[in-house]
Order: sequence, then C-alpha cells, then structure tokens
Amino acid sequence: LTEAGSTNPFVRYRWLLDSYRKAMAAGSNDADFVSLVRRLDEAVAGVAGQGFAVTPLTIERALGMAVGVPGRLWVKDETGNVGGSHKARHLFGVLLHLAIDGSPSASQGELAIASCGNAALAAALVARADQRALRVFIPTWADPLVVAELQRLGATIEVCERRPDEPGDPSYLRFQEAIGTGMVPFSVQGPATPTAIDGGRTLGWELAEQLAVARGRPGRLLHLIVQVGGGALATAVWQGIQGGIAEQWLDLTPVLHTVQTEAVAPLNRAWRLLLAQLEPALTGEEHEELLDEVLGGAARHPDRYMWAWEHPGASAATGILDDVTYDWLPVAEAMLRSGGTAHVVSEAAIERAHELATRHTASPVDHTGSAGLAALLNGLTRLEPDDEVAVLFTGVARG
Ligand SMILES: Cc1ncc(COP(=O)(O)O)c(C=O)c1O
Repeated sequence: LTEAGSTNPFVRYRWLLDSYRKAMAAGSNDADFVSLVRRLDEAVAGVAGQGFAVTPLTIERALGMAVGVPGRLWVKDETGNVGGSHKARHLFGVLLHLAIDGSPSASQGELAIASCGNAALAAALVARADQRALRVFIPTWADPLVVAELQRLGATIEVCERRPDEPGDPSYLRFQEAIGTGMVPFSVQGPATPTAIDGGRTLGWELAEQLAVARGRPGRLLHLIVQVGGGALATAVWQGIQGGIAEQWLDLTPVLHTVQTEAVAPLNRAWRLLLAQLEPALTGEEHEELLDEVLGGAARHPDRYMWAWEHPGASAATGILDDVTYDWLPVAEAMLRSGGTAHVVSEAAIERAHELATRHTASPVDHTGSAGLAALLNGLTRLEPDDEVAVLFTGVARG
C-alpha cells in the first residue's frame, strides 16, 4: 500500500474499512480509493477549515494523579477533529459508502439525521462538502447556537414537538418517518445507518496504533472507558481496538467500561438484566456457553432489555442523554465478555470530571467529552499497577 504513513485516518487505515473492501470488490483499485478520500477530504476542509487527521493521544500524569491512576491515564483528544467531535468520523465513513454505492446526489436523495448537537453539526459539514441536501430533526430545546450554525451550513431544520402519549424521542420518530418516505439515513446510529460504525472505527485503530508506539513497556489490561449516548461510539471504538489487536499493533487485553448519567441510563438497565441471567459460579467454557445463550436470546428479543428511558432527566453531559441506546447489544456484549462495567454516574461526578479535565489538561473539552473520567470517580476499581486506562475526550466546549 502506498501512503501507509498518511495522517488522514481514512487513508492510513483504509484496507480495514468496509467501504474500501466494497470498492475493491466492485472492481476499483487502491489509487482510486485514495483519490476519492482525498477529494472528499479536501471538500470537507473547504467547509470545515480542516480535513481529517489522526488526533492526539497523550499520557496525562497530573489528571491521572487527580483521578487515582497516576502514570497510566491516556487521553485521546477529539476536540480538534472536524466539527469539534468524533462524530464526523462516523459520517465521513457513511459518505464514502454512499459514494461507492453510486448513491444519488442531492437532487435525488435528501439525507436525514435526528440530532441536536455534535452529530448534526458533523452531518451538516460533511453533507455540505459533497453538496448533498440534509434535513435535521431536532427537539424544541436544541441549542440556538448549533441551530444557527446548521442553518448557515444549508441544512433544513425540522423542530419536533413531543406529541401527547407518544413514548420515545420525537426527533428520532420524525426521522424514522422521513426514512420511510425515501430520505437517505445519514445518522450516527447503527440500526438506522449501519455504515455509520465503519468510519467510527478509525478512532479505535488510531488508539491501538498510538498506544502500541507510545507505551514501550509490557502490560496486561487496557481499561477503555467510553461515555455512551446512542452507543455507536463505543461499538465502533471497541471494534477498532479489536482490529488493532488482530493487526498485532496492541498486545494489551482490552476491558470496556461505559458511562451514562443518572438522568438517562438505559444501557446500564440492559446490562444488569443480562447479568442477572448469568450464574456467578460458572467459569471458563461453561460461562462462555451461558453467555452465548443469553446474548442470543437478547438478539432475538431486544425489547426485553432495551426500551426508551421513561423519564429522561437533565445533565450537563447533553450528548449522552439518548433515551434509547440504539447500539446497545454490541456494547453490552463487549462489557460482558471483557469483564467491564456499565457505570451510572451522578451529576456531581460529571461536573467534577469536567473540572479536573480542564484544570489538568489543555483540552477545551466539554462535559460530555470528559464524562468517561467520571467512571474513575465512581469507584472503577480492581486496577493493577500494570493496567493502562484510556478515556476519550470526544467533544469541544462551544459558545
Ligand atoms: C461529545 C460526544 N461524546 C460522546 C457521545 C456519545 O456517542 P454515542 O451517541 O455514539 O454513544 C456523543 C453523542 O452525541 C457526543 O456528542
């Protein structure tokens, strides 16, 4: 492969992308794929002021000290990414699939997303770059600054009121109706847009490769902590880490921990329902067999484990308030297989995590972005001195 050392993750790790494999299977070649990525990336840079580049991974000693894991806390900082969060990774990945599928341009298929924050902004940037029309379904309480930016980028806005006796998120319901009428899903959730996971994996591949290069000492476990809203981020990063292990970049055994807030915690509820079906006494093969059976049952009857959180509360971590964890099953499976925990953290812990993140690092991270740290304030224990911990600072503070 040429350009193996590229700093654009969609070039650097391209042979791992589903879109790349699809393009090759359709008779394209490596050079054509690279030119496609370069052309779209330049267009993104034209709209966003920057294209995609590998984001920094740093060891944060002062912050590690403050949260009880001195010398082994790694922070992957997405705040300088296109659109100020990791979300554009998902959507650029979707755009590559649309391009390779020969998907209709703006006049034939309007793109649609339900979101009020980082995902909507990323969608608007990426859609605009490829001159595709985008409709964004937002709640009544969406941040006016974000709405103004969406409008500036040419997106059509649909404000979705809650209808009496209608359970679930009205924006998501209106989005689903739009897809039913033929709009093209351009979301950051696996069930609505399966190709959204593909590009999100670049974050995990970067993390695996960067950790392998930076650590330089033998280790045991990598505790990866991910804040979860819809669950696509955790799903994608976990897959990326597994890919990095398969590529033999990383020799640590990863353990996935997730963070939701007390305000909305449907993933923790699903995880506890699954745990209740496992028998603590079982180990080894017997445990794996029972786990396979329980997960198989969950795949057949997802509604028994995941349903809309009845009374969503408020939190400063606004990006993880999805009332349904759409991509919950792969995340729950990763936690159960790796021995991680679905943390539910208090608002005080979200605030404290943000305070420590901004005091001890130079990152302009927001409360959602630093929420993963809250697991360390929430009694994430049983860490051995050889274990590494990684958190993702996923979003920039705005306004
Ligand atoms: C900054 C930030 N971090 C994390 C997340 C959570 O990602 P996901 O919804 O894929 O779980 C979001 C989602 O909006 C976000 O904006």
